[in-house]
Amino acid sequence: MRRVQVCIIGAGPAGLLLGHLLRAEGVDCLVLDRQSPDYILGRIRAGVLETITVSLMERLGLDARLKAEGLWHDGFQLADGERLIRIDLADLTGSRVMVYGQTELTRDLMQAAEERGLEIEYGAREVALHGMEGDAPHVTWTDANGAQQRVDCRFIVGCDGFHGPSRKAIPANAGKGFERVYPFGWLGILADVPPCHHELIYASHERGFALASMRSETRSRYYIDVPAGEDVANWPDDRVWDELALRLGPEAAAGIARGPSIEKSIAPLRSFVFEPMRYGSLLLCGDAAHIVPPTGAKGLNLAASDVHYAAEALTAFFLRNCDDAVAAYSQKALSRVWKAERFSWSLTRLMHRDPSGGPFERRMQLAELDYIASSRAAQTAIAENYVGLPV
Ligand code: FAD
Ligand code: PHB
Repeated sequence: MRRVQVCIIGAGPAGLLLGHLLRAEGVDCLVLDRQSPDYILGRIRAGVLETITVSLMERLGLDARLKAEGLWHDGFQLADGERLIRIDLADLTGSRVMVYGQTELTRDLMQAAEERGLEIEYGAREVALHGMEGDAPHVTWTDANGAQQRVDCRFIVGCDGFHGPSRKAIPANAGKGFERVYPFGWLGILADVPPCHHELIYASHERGFALASMRSETRSRYYIDVPAGEDVANWPDDRVWDELALRLGPEAAAGIARGPSIEKSIAPLRSFVFEPMRYGSLLLCGDAAHIVPPTGAKGLNLAASDVHYAAEALTAFFLRNCDDAVAAYSQKALSRVWKAERFSWSLTRLMHRDPSGGPFERRMQLAELDYIASSRAAQTAIAENYVGLPV
């Protein structure tokens, strides 16, 4: 019978980061994912890293490419359709963020797995969790050859995203989900053209939201909001570029270089928190436990802070025989999660046109943006949250 100390379900950023942190402390673990590495690397998602995420990569000694290719950003822009309002992160907080794609971070973690002895099994189907209420849980799955597999462990960590089996394995009476689904989604395009501006621009326009982001000095990532359930086929590239030029405002529009999209997809927007983030021998990390709308660039970074707490707790358990940190994990992680939820929700509300909102709501948004433009205190509150609250 196979046995490890920790079985991690999901080889996204949360699962891979946790696996590496535990391996670095000599904790024996196995990571299972139902997809292939190519499929995982094909998902275009986050682009902005907080210091906590960068420092975990540094701690692992996996920061060489991130330091060479990532772009440090000292600020970002809010736009109201007419003007740009700069949030000077460095001046307001002494901190900054890094633009480096989730895809690249995941690739760095995947590529280092073999040399660091981190075992990852891809193509694991029908993953099921058993016995988490006690201290001898196990996980079963069907491997890529169709054979039934089982691993026994002391802890299972669910890093399997919003739709994975871990959270769903918790009995209904042992937890509670809090959810807000938004009536719009983000249509994103990736194109090999230089960014329209050297900093990110989040725009709140009469016509809706737009975001100008980037992956490098030659690759741009743009988003606009579209009604929930919209079909991407209704958005040929020209229509997306036209809409971006209108919503981002004249100054940014002048800098837009158009080109064919190399990826185009629509992501729904949701706020969700599941409490508690531990059930017996099961810990939840990242999107398995919570979802934020992408407006604050918090999802990947929250996954990283959960992993930081989980690695601390599991290391204390295995290396120092201390289970206090495991007992405190959920409360510690949730206190940071709820603050990031609040920030992402409030920035979403400020920047998007809710179809149920009328002209009054629009005036409220414009008044708030005008207040932000004039108040260092308001800018500081945004900047502190954007660079990431302390862990
Ligand atoms: P995931 O990345 O979802 O990984 C979960 C893994 O579990 C996957 O590999 C999946 O294959 C595996 N899995 C699922 N089901 C099973 C199963 N049954 N069995 C085995 N394995 C399973 N966040 C930011 O911080 N900054 C941003 O700028 C940002 N922008 C975003 C833009 C978009 C368009 C989107 C959609 C998201 C964005 N996010 C952003 C959010 C961020 O991408 C997620 O929060 C992040 O991927 C969470 O990582 P995770 O490892 O918890 O989950
Ligand atoms: C991205 O570049 O994909 C990105 C950047 C900032 C966000 C969300 C997504 O808030």
